[in-house]
Amino acid sequence: MASIRTYLQSTIMSKVIMALSGLAVIGFLLAHLAGNLLVFGGPEAINKYGQGLRDLGGLLWVLRGGIVVAFIAHIFTSIHLKQRNASARKVSYANTQPVNSTFASRTMLISGLSILIYLLFHLSHFTWGMVSTKSFNGSYILQDGRIVHDVYAMVVADFQNPIISIVYIVAVTLVMFHTTHAFSSAFQTLGINHPSYNGLIKKAGLGIAILFWIGYVSIPVAILGQFVK
Ligand code: HEM
Repeated sequence: MASIRTYLQSTIMSKVIMALSGLAVIGFLLAHLAGNLLVFGGPEAINKYGQGLRDLGGLLWVLRGGIVVAFIAHIFTSIHLKQRNASARKVSYANTQPVNSTFASRTMLISGLSILIYLLFHLSHFTWGMVSTKSFNGSYILQDGRIVHDVYAMVVADFQNPIISIVYIVAVTLVMFHTTHAFSSAFQTLGINHPSYNGLIKKAGLGIAILFWIGYVSIPVAILGQFVK
């Protein structure tokens, strides 16, 4: 009896951690998108924003720490839950046809792990400058005279490479699929679940996923199409 309780508690706890950390990542992605879209405002707008983040000093490190913890907690609990489900079901289902599932819900683990691989590439690219040292090391003089990191030139130069742009477009498409299912699933786990507003939560999840896709994809597409130079 005690072991069933422990099992339930730990599974429920893992699901709650997964839901909360997933919602934190969605919050980060919304803020990150808003910042990235400043590329359409030109070099002054996005470079000032990038420097503004750095000027947060210690608070930036607290925010970074929070997002790293959220990503890691989300990845570990998803793998843990998958393993638990597999070992709990010693005999596989006789009918493997999906009954009430979508493409997005069936591919959560694979889309999540692919996003993790992309994220490692993305951090190597824009945070650690390991992909293109030349574009990463540029600097820009703000209107107030401060010399700052040239995020604008870095993003524009690198997205002119179609291979890099395609990697981002594919990754953001995976993020879109993942978010479509994740958003409503997180609300269900947290018990925010009622027939009168479940449909609305599903639509909100789809809306956020589409917003992510259009917003993030617009950047490489605009640069490849020479709308942003
Ligand atoms: C067109 C798409 C994207 C662009 C242009 C972009 C741009 C950037 C840039 C310029 C940075 C470096 C910030 C700095 O250190 O100055 C960055 C960091 C980061 N990006 Fe993105 N990003 C994109 C998509 C994504 C996606 C889809 C994710 C998540 C799945 C993501 C997660 C992160 C994370 C976690 C960091 C590190 C934040 C930090 O160190 O403060 N990005 N991104």
